[in-house]
Amino acid sequence: MLSDEERLEIEEEIGRYAQERAASVEALMSVQRRRGWVDDETLGEVASMLGMSFDELDGVATFYNLIFRSPVGKNVILLCDTISCMVMGYETILAHLEEKLGIRLGQTTADGLFTLLPVPCLGACERSPVMMVGEKLFPGLTPERVDEILREHGWRG
Ligand code: FES
Repeated sequence: MLSDEERLEIEEEIGRYAQERAASVEALMSVQRRRGWVDDETLGEVASMLGMSFDELDGVATFYNLIFRSPVGKNVILLCDTISCMVMGYETILAHLEEKLGIRLGQTTADGLFTLLPVPCLGACERSPVMMVGEKLFPGLTPERVDEILREHGWRG
């Protein structure tokens, strides 16, 4: 169930637009910022605040890669798998992440600290390969830089 604080924040987002549904992504993000992901019950509540059906809002959530519809780890690593990053070392970075974290793409570490997911172009192609952790962008990745970033987020490997 949405908390009063969540409802208030969503109402504020809705107030910024002429049409309620235009606040869909912001409303879902405001829930996700607190809970880590958006479950069905919550999505249904947000949908009624936006005057949308469950399926309509679920469609938005599915289309927008940064909304998670199933549980994720504390830190979500989104590794760009589009062309510039592919050419500039995606495979090396992916193999490094998988080895260091002991998981494959799409999985979460046993301690719940990291989830590793693919994402299309993050718009920083000139500095590829690129990943995001949470809402922060990390360009120009090397295996050494990946280790630093993991450590900054609690990895103790
Ligand atoms: S292709 Fe990776 S950031 Fe654009």
